[in-house]
Amino acid sequence: MEKREMLYEGKAKKVYATDDASLLIVDYKDDATAFNGLKKGTISGKGVINNQMSNRLMAKLERCGIPTHYVQELSERETVVKKVSIVPLEVIVRNIAAGSFSKRYGVAEGVVFDRPTIEFSYKNDELGDPLLNTYHALALKLATPEEIAIIEKYAFRVNDILKEFWKTCGVTLVDFKLEFGRLPDGAIVLADEISPDTCRLWDAATGEKLDKDRFRRDMGGVEEAYSEIMRRLEEHL
Ligand code: TMP
Repeated sequence: MEKREMLYEGKAKKVYATDDASLLIVDYKDDATAFNGLKKGTISGKGVINNQMSNRLMAKLERCGIPTHYVQELSERETVVKKVSIVPLEVIVRNIAAGSFSKRYGVAEGVVFDRPTIEFSYKNDELGDPLLNTYHALALKLATPEEIAIIEKYAFRVNDILKEFWKTCGVTLVDFKLEFGRLPDGAIVLADEISPDTCRLWDAATGEKLDKDRFRRDMGGVEEAYSEIMRRLEEHL
């Protein structure tokens, strides 16, 4: 596998071409942003943790029958993934009220739902990733009805699997964001990353936040939280 030119640099990752047209290499950075890039910073060691955590969790999901883009970890920060065309939807599943849900609907953070919720945002930085419903997604031709159905099915299955796994680690999975992609044959696979940047993870005993909210909300102890959540994962995988 040969690393070729950089194709894209995002807020937290760089993406490189390879000598195989169907594969890419992602390289995880320590850079962190929040509020659509308004807040910028560095979380030392985050790239390594997010790379390794995302790969462990994607491998686990694959074993449970969820197709993903994950192929092979190359180094601490680099992973080979299948090249996909990203469906421009941020798919958010919630088990407990927090973040934008609490703000939008005036619900205290920590209120546990009877059943999980799902919502979509239009993945578009210029527009600030606006919330949309499936009718809007279809009108904008972001995905087909069949794709939306399979994305919802996978997203709830991912929730069931990860909620159970994190529970064994003494961690509550509050909510998370997923992205999906299309393979050349049209199959939908889980893409992007699953990490403390994209999930809310609370210590089940104390409620302590072990995720990027510590950075978003200037709570301190950011690096320590990322290390602690990775330690729990490695202990229980
Ligand atoms: P929210 O409550 O701010 O809408 O966030 C819901 C979940 O999505 C939370 O686990 C953090 C994650 N998330 C991202 O991964 N990327 C984003 O840009 C945002 C806003 C949230």
